[in-house]
Amino acid sequence: MPTTAIVNIGSLITNDQTLDAGLLGELRDAALVIENGRVAWVGSGTQVPAADRVIDAGGRTVLPGFVDSHAHMLFAGDRAAEFSARMSGQAYAAGGINTTVEATRSASSADLERNLVRLATEMKSSGITTFETKSGYGLSVEDEFRALEIARKHTTETTYLGAHVVPADYKNRGDAGLDAYVELVKGEMLAAAVKAGAKWIDVFCDRGAFDADQAREILEAGRMAGLAPRIHANQLQPGQGVQLAVELDCASADHCTHLSAADIEALAASNTVATLLPGAEFSTRSPYPDARQLWSAGATVAIATDCNPGSSYTTSMPFCIAVAVRDMYFTPEQAIWSATFGGAKALRRADIGHLSVGARADLIQLDAPSAIHLAYRPGVNLIHSTHLAEDLS
Ligand code: NIG
Ligand code: FE
Repeated sequence: MPTTAIVNIGSLITNDQTLDAGLLGELRDAALVIENGRVAWVGSGTQVPAADRVIDAGGRTVLPGFVDSHAHMLFAGDRAAEFSARMSGQAYAAGGINTTVEATRSASSADLERNLVRLATEMKSSGITTFETKSGYGLSVEDEFRALEIARKHTTETTYLGAHVVPADYKNRGDAGLDAYVELVKGEMLAAAVKAGAKWIDVFCDRGAFDADQAREILEAGRMAGLAPRIHANQLQPGQGVQLAVELDCASADHCTHLSAADIEALAASNTVATLLPGAEFSTRSPYPDARQLWSAGATVAIATDCNPGSSYTTSMPFCIAVAVRDMYFTPEQAIWSATFGGAKALRRADIGHLSVGARADLIQLDAPSAIHLAYRPGVNLIHSTHLAEDLS
């Protein structure tokens, strides 16, 4: 197998705790060798073994590709007017999702796929090398199925979110419509999602969406069908979402905007990652959760974009890192760890989010002398290049 060496790395972020080099496992003046799409060697630039191909990083920073563990990329249209109204004082509400459901149902599959590819391309240029995407703007058996079928062509991390909101055609029918929709989500729609190759199941457990009992029923049905659970929890108000996530051993509880002391304690004692979505608070002008408090309590934290047309229309992980540092009280190191290793943990993946020997060689070259510049230089595109393991094999 041909090998590739990346040499002349000013700062190499490995996230390898065994190196005894801080939270981010940072090596200065380092080099990296890749073989077969995996990291084969990491060390000092003066000791780099011979390789078939050499990439000169020119003193740049190299870090693991960002892992975006939470996005909604299967949709049509936008909601710029809704955003503008919010910035003039209107509150964000779950009901806006139905505007996108209408647009998504009437879009062609080719248009949905083009939109997904456009967003995935933006993500790659912001340094994201793995992304998760949810369905959730189809909300009929056929439309959820086609969203997930398109998604799986572009990522292995696909999530069935039939329980995003109750769509208008069921909501019109009152309580009977609500019950019928929950049955559909657990029944025929779930079967279609499994057939389409979904890996995860998610529920929006919040005001205007689904309550904790409905969420439990739906997630348990998903688990029986072979999907692993995660939850949109405590975004709009305090509630039982986080506790339910821990109870069901969900891979992540996402948003975590309104947390009680008991929620923080439960997360800290669990395998459930608290996924923070700074773009959502930013774009809905909501109070930010305190990431540092979660971290200090011992919870595992991830940062993700939540890319969607309603509450967070960004594909930029550097933007999310900068906001997490400025407004959620993370240190730059904690934010960078959460956007890489933390995201991998939220997807229960051990092969990404770090650059230890054996990891996938998904990485970023940053045009900066240190990774701190990701937060220190907000709004500036510092991504020199994003490499996927496939590109470096
Ligand atoms: O994660 N909160 C639920 N779902 C999305 C928003 C969806 C929308 O407003 O279209 C979120 O923020
Ligand atoms: Fe979301």
